[in-house]
Amino acid sequence: MSALPQRPHDPAAEPAVRLETRVSLRPYNSFGLPAIAERLVRVRSEAQLRAVLADPALARWPRKLLGGGSNLVLTRDLDALVLKIEIAGRRLVRRDERLAIVEAGAGENWHGFVAWTMAQGLPGLENLALIPGSVGASPVQNIGAYGVELKDRFDSLDAIDLETGQMRVFGKSDCRFGYRDSVFKHAWAGRLAITRVRFALPQPPVAEVGYLDLQRRIAETGISHPSPQLVFDWICAIRRAKLPDPSVIGNAGSFFKNPVVTPEQCRDIIARDPSVVHYPMPDGSFKLAAGWLIEACGWKGKTVGQAGVYDKQALVLVNRGQAIGGEIVTLAKAIQESVYGRFGIRLEPEPVVW
Ligand code: EPU
Repeated sequence: MSALPQRPHDPAAEPAVRLETRVSLRPYNSFGLPAIAERLVRVRSEAQLRAVLADPALARWPRKLLGGGSNLVLTRDLDALVLKIEIAGRRLVRRDERLAIVEAGAGENWHGFVAWTMAQGLPGLENLALIPGSVGASPVQNIGAYGVELKDRFDSLDAIDLETGQMRVFGKSDCRFGYRDSVFKHAWAGRLAITRVRFALPQPPVAEVGYLDLQRRIAETGISHPSPQLVFDWICAIRRAKLPDPSVIGNAGSFFKNPVVTPEQCRDIIARDPSVVHYPMPDGSFKLAAGWLIEACGWKGKTVGQAGVYDKQALVLVNRGQAIGGEIVTLAKAIQESVYGRFGIRLEPEPVVW
């Protein structure tokens, strides 16, 4: 990681900061949960963010960073200054015979960006199509699906330190990516605004089709070497068939991480239920399908108040219409307790609770 030299301060060049008050956050979280931000600033550039950080009138409130709102459970109104990151822009940075480097502003919609790369003839992110959220949030979670994780295509990112206003560049090793994990959830949690992310797309492109759902498509169609565009179309179809569209049914994707257990724990669970879905990991541990554990406890399709468990994928909690954040949290706790009671496994939620 390195600190970049800062440009000389020129207040005239900085765009005006517009403070909005009492803003409904319902449209800005994929669960569609109600909450009011007492104050909100839309951040459309790095310069604007620095202006917010340097403004003494805005310094008295705690700050909350809001990205795509797709990994968030809002349980209360926020008496804070919400910085809604809306930095836009997509570009090809460079391309050679080995790699294409593409960059997107943190506020770009993730799927919109993936679709743009496909339209530019720059595949590589197709397995990550239709994941809800923004580009800026994607490295925090190290989003992953269908055999590809963000870290496999990550180049570097720019971020602004909220305490010092300093711009920093993070390379891949600086990010300490793990399964749905990164340094941005730990040492740097709440201290950084990611402003731009760059991706390294292999040239020539290679389609990743190892995941079971994709192998099924290959068997069904007889197309043994699908193009990246066809993989993109397949992934979109697979996701649409089993995951709810947040613009129709509020949700935050997988609500829990798939738990990783020791071989002994895995043996113990298999002894209780031989059909448990489990995958061996390179380090000898096993990953269990949390959706299977939740379904085995009878939760699939269940509703408690206005919160529910999606009927096609038990790992996804949904807003049945008028849920409040507390109902989602209560349902999540009840699921955790029953999975712990039956299998002795503690499920860890993915979303952040505010
Ligand atoms: N399963 C059940 N019942 C269920 C759901 C799943 O038995 O209700 C079983 C399935 O039959 C399958 C296994 O669990 O054998 C795995 O299911 P699936 O392929 O749907 O994947 P997942 O492990 O549930 C993960 C990611 C998803 C990602 C998919 C595909 C996590 C927490 N979730 O889900 O990511 O799209 O793999 O790669 O790792 C997300 O993080 O928001 C997300 C959607």
